[in-house]
Amino acid sequence: MNDTMRVGIIGGGLMGREAASAFGRWFVLDKFPVRAELVAVCDLQESLLDWFRRVPTVRQCTRDHRELLRNPEVDVVYVAVPHHLHEALYLEVLSAGKDLLAEKPFGIDLAAARKIRDAAATSGRFVRCSSEFPFLPGALRAIQFARSGRLGKLIEVHSCFWHASDLDPNKAVNWKRQVKTCGEIGVMGDLGMHVVHVPFRLGYHPRRVYAQLQKIYTQRPDGKGGVAECDTWDNAMLHTEIEVDGREVPVRFETKRLAPGATNTWSIEILGTDGGARFTTAEPKSFWHFERSREQTWCRTDLGFQTDFPTITGGIFEPGFPDCFLQMWASYAAERAGVLGDRLGCVTPDEAVRSHELFAAALESHRTLAAVALPD
Ligand SMILES: NC(=O)c1ccc[n+]([C@@H]2O[C@H](COP(=O)([O-])OP(=O)(O)OC[C@H]3O[C@@H](n4cnc5c(N)ncnc54)[C@H](O)[C@@H]3O)[C@@H](O)[C@H]2O)c1
Repeated sequence: MNDTMRVGIIGGGLMGREAASAFGRWFVLDKFPVRAELVAVCDLQESLLDWFRRVPTVRQCTRDHRELLRNPEVDVVYVAVPHHLHEALYLEVLSAGKDLLAEKPFGIDLAAARKIRDAAATSGRFVRCSSEFPFLPGALRAIQFARSGRLGKLIEVHSCFWHASDLDPNKAVNWKRQVKTCGEIGVMGDLGMHVVHVPFRLGYHPRRVYAQLQKIYTQRPDGKGGVAECDTWDNAMLHTEIEVDGREVPVRFETKRLAPGATNTWSIEILGTDGGARFTTAEPKSFWHFERSREQTWCRTDLGFQTDFPTITGGIFEPGFPDCFLQMWASYAAERAGVLGDRLGCVTPDEAVRSHELFAAALESHRTLAAVALPD
């Protein structure tokens, strides 16, 4: 394999440009064995293509994704488009013989996710799905703690992602607020992959789910002086159970667009009888852990930049969103090149399908007002 991963982006909006920024400072990775270069971009909006024309390595800007897929310079395609376009575009990427970093939720629904997973397996291409928060040092510490055996008997797990931008009723509608473009799973499609990645990686696979789903604002300004329907779920609380050593253990997944006081707050809490771990992006330098003793004490570690893939950034500096996004891409590149070792990998197609099984069961649970069993 060439030691330069040449990337093409389809969808140069919010996330497409975030990816460009990650490749633009790839050199912060210290002694990383793979170089990355953004060479091609496709978006329908000329103004966005103009933005990418400022990126020195970009040699192709096009409004036709097929033109990008015919480009022999492109090895890996990152697709960051609305959810109703995932299936068709991901399948075309694979047919073109390219590797894929897919944006979540990996298809608009369970059927789409299964088709993409199956096509990925048949194609033999390297396919992973985006979820970056677990690559933050505090999240990596929580995973390490859970694996260390220091939890004792697992009591419960909370995995949450909270936004508050939708509290404003005057915020105009966009594609993420409508079933036809975001999917019936709504906020679970938007934020769900972020909350399942760590629990799934720890082997916490829900056996049963009871879902509380809420539509809070059902209409919003359409941005053209009128009013548009908002028919997706705003908030979802999934109360699930996993089985650990023959015992049922509750795992709660929360994805919320209306969470007062939260901008983009991802958190994980894992509690056991002997120990516990807690991390939230609201306190990006703090890793909290608990160890059973005579007194009830949570200890706070002031974290620095202890990422899985070393960088030239000072070890005492604090990381943020662009850093974990870059670390996720480093993980993708390392795994693709066969040098991931025991570091955290990106969400696999099987995990993405498992997440859709959970979200589909959550919809059924809400419809039937009952707990719904999940496949093993
Ligand atoms: N990993 C994360 O933290 C994160 C955050 C936000 C969004 N996302 C995901 O990223 C994806 C995109 O979300 P976004 O917020 O960047 O959306 P966005 O609306 O900002 O950008 C989407 C872009 O896709 C372009 N597009 C639409 N159809 C196209 C086509 N046929 N060919 C080429 N370009 C096309 C649009 O012009 C737009 O610029 C979604 O799957 C979303 O769930 C991930």
